[in-house]
Amino acid sequence: MPEGGQLSAIVLAAGEGTRMRSSTPKVLHRVAGRSLVEHAVRAAAGIDPDHLVVVVGHGRQAVAAHLDAVSGGIDRKITIAVQDEQLGTGHAVSRGLDVLPEVTSGTVVVTYGDVPLLDTDTLAGLLAEHSRTGNAVTVLTTVVSDPNGYGRVVRDAEGRVVGIVEQRDADTDQLTITEINSGVYAFDAAVLRDGLSRLRTDNAQGEQYLTDVLSIASADGLGVGALVCPDPWLVEGVNDRVQLARLGAELNRRLVREWMRAGVTVVDPASTWLDADVALARDVLIEPNVQLRAGTAVYEGAVVGPDTTLSNCVVGAGALVVRTHGSDAEIGERASVGPFAYLRPGARLGAGGKIGTFVEVKNSEIGAGSKVPHLTYVGDATIGDGSNIGAATVFVNYDGVRKHRTVIGSHARTGADNMFVAPVTVGDGAYTAAGSVITEDVPPGAMGVARARQRNIEGWVGRRRPGTPAAEAAERSTGDPTRKTTSQDDDPKET
Ligand code: UD1
Ligand code: CA
Repeated sequence: MPEGGQLSAIVLAAGEGTRMRSSTPKVLHRVAGRSLVEHAVRAAAGIDPDHLVVVVGHGRQAVAAHLDAVSGGIDRKITIAVQDEQLGTGHAVSRGLDVLPEVTSGTVVVTYGDVPLLDTDTLAGLLAEHSRTGNAVTVLTTVVSDPNGYGRVVRDAEGRVVGIVEQRDADTDQLTITEINSGVYAFDAAVLRDGLSRLRTDNAQGEQYLTDVLSIASADGLGVGALVCPDPWLVEGVNDRVQLARLGAELNRRLVREWMRAGVTVVDPASTWLDADVALARDVLIEPNVQLRAGTAVYEGAVVGPDTTLSNCVVGAGALVVRTHGSDAEIGERASVGPFAYLRPGARLGAGGKIGTFVEVKNSEIGAGSKVPHLTYVGDATIGDGSNIGAATVFVNYDGVRKHRTVIGSHARTGADNMFVAPVTVGDGAYTAAGSVITEDVPPGAMGVARARQRNIEGWVGRRRPGTPAAEAAERSTGDPTRKTTSQDDDPKET
């Protein structure tokens, strides 16, 4: 903690973000599963400030509601300040300080809500430099090959920072400066308040520039310093959707790299997309084309992919999940899912279980070792342990108005092509016959049969389809195309 009182952080997020061409406020656009402003707020929260303020303006209701929702996840109070008109970054910080009347000393850190890669380590480094030097202001800068559009850091002959000049106010010499202002600063609170009260608007944009606080402090003989950030990605902001994708991809590269260093095998980093809020254990293997979205946890030795998207899913140790789309689902240890499975909210598969190919599961529990291997819809069901569901089964859960549950016991064997018309129960150890429409409970150990009995109309093809390849094949096989051994109607529809 710097001497002289409290630490405050102010995140500026009032701008419109015109170049996004969006009806969503810029800071609510997302990368790695978090909004831009959530990234900013988390980075600021990490330095453990006594006060955390976000200045909102454009789309303020949506931004404030969103911040209210995320503040629980970061376990920190966020104070909202409103900037009605965007009169400049200096004006925005003034609005932020308005909600902190008690803050007259200590340090104020200012960041932007649209800089998603800025991290707590960088802010902590800035604070450390600020307190080490005892400066009144320390600005985070970086050196770029193309400084176009940024404020340039102006230094004197001794290399001391004397101010920042905006692109539109710069002379030709200043335009060649490649050290740029990131827009992230640590200020002595009293110097900041004083400087903001002295800002003028006689500049190219007619705005109150926060950057002018530096030249005011410098002219007052106060210490103004810079910390050069060696990694320009960390301070790059999002102004349009091209930058959103560019920074999203870079953040993803970094997240994937961190997980690989933590012991996860990623076969193809370029086609692997990991949200910031995922957790992966050692020796997880991620095949190409995988998206793991927020809330997903994958345990040791599990294999995910190829071609799999999981949101808020748990994958147990040693499980295998291939070509699967899942959300809000749980996959047990050593279980197997896919290829071509669709796990909807509330799908829960027990240890060693199987959800196979072209299977959709919703709001259903499938017990340990139970298998649903092929072409099946499981909705609103409870299936015990060690049961097998035949191919092409439908759990008929919806009567057109309400949903009903099906219960299948443990070690049951249900036949292929069954319909379980819920509510219905199949007991432990029961069987059902293939092709059954099960509308009544099947007691434990019973065989449920619910289908019409088969009959064969002998010689029908020879009589009704004479001369066809089918009739000829039958004749070759039986020697008599019209053979009729029992007295039956020829038209099965009439029976
Ligand atoms: C600002 C800096 C510039 C720096 C650049 C880094 C000033 C005068 N210039 O320029 O030196 O190189 O950032 O990106 O500070 N905002 C508000 N209210 C306002 C104005 C801005 O909340 O009235 C917010 C915006 O939402 C944005 C941030 O402040 O998140 C920066 O605003 P922007 O207009 O992009 O500043 P630049 O002109 O890029
Ligand atoms: Ca900007």
